[in-house]
Amino acid sequence: CSLYERGHGFVPWDGPTNAPILWMGEGPGYDEAAIGRPFVGAAGSMLERILRRNHLQRGQFRIGNVLQCVPPGLSLEGETYQYTAIDHCRVHREKFLSQGYPQVVLAAGGTALRTLLGLHGMDRIRVEEFHGTVHDDPEGRFKVVPSFHPSYLQRGAHNLIGTVSFDLQLALEVARGQCQPQPLELIIDPPVEWRRAWVEQLEAAARQDPEGIAIACDT
Ligand code: URA
Repeated sequence: CSLYERGHGFVPWDGPTNAPILWMGEGPGYDEAAIGRPFVGAAGSMLERILRRNHLQRGQFRIGNVLQCVPPGLSLEGETYQYTAIDHCRVHREKFLSQGYPQVVLAAGGTALRTLLGLHGMDRIRVEEFHGTVHDDPEGRFKVVPSFHPSYLQRGAHNLIGTVSFDLQLALEVARGQCQPQPLELIIDPPVEWRRAWVEQLEAAARQDPEGIAIACDT
C-alpha cells in the first residue's frame, strides 16, 4: 500500500451489512482510528445531526470510507499516492459492495464520488457539478447519490445541512424504488464537432417548444 508506514490505524465499515444505504466518506480521522469505527469524531457528530434532523438513526445505515486507514494530514487531496492507496483499499470496498447491498451509496465528498464512478485522476470533478443527480455504479450493482462531506459542513458550510438532508431523502426514495432517475450521460472534454451538434439539436428543440428546454451552463 502506498500508505504503508504513512497511514495510521485500521477502521472497517460499520452498521448492518444489509442496510439499503451506505454513507461513504474518504478516510477515517484520528478519533475513528482510536476507536476503530468510522464517523465517530467531529464528522460523525455532523452526520448524526443530519440523521436526527431527518428522524433517522445511525444504526439504520451502513457507514464506511474509501480508505481504511488515516491518510497523512487527514486528506488525500492533491497527493501523488492517493490513487494507489484508493486502489489498494478496493479489496475492502468490493467485499461489501458486491453482496446485493447496499442499494444506494451516498457519496460524501469528492473522493468517494470519483472512486465510486471510476473517475480516478479527474480531481477537478467536484460534488457541486453532480449534486441533485443519481448515477449507476459502473457495474450496475447500486445507485450513487452525490453529496457533501459532513467534515465540509462541520468546518463551516452549515448552510448545506438542508442540502445534505435533501440528498439523504433522495437516497431513501431511490432505495424504496420511488425515484426512477433519468439516464445521464457524462461527456468530459467533448470535441468541438460534438458540442456544435449538441447546440444545434438544443436550438432546434427550443424552436419547437421554447418553454420545454432548460439549460444551465457556466463558462
Ligand atoms: N472523515 C471521513 O471521511 N470518514 C470518517 O470516518 C471520519 C472523517
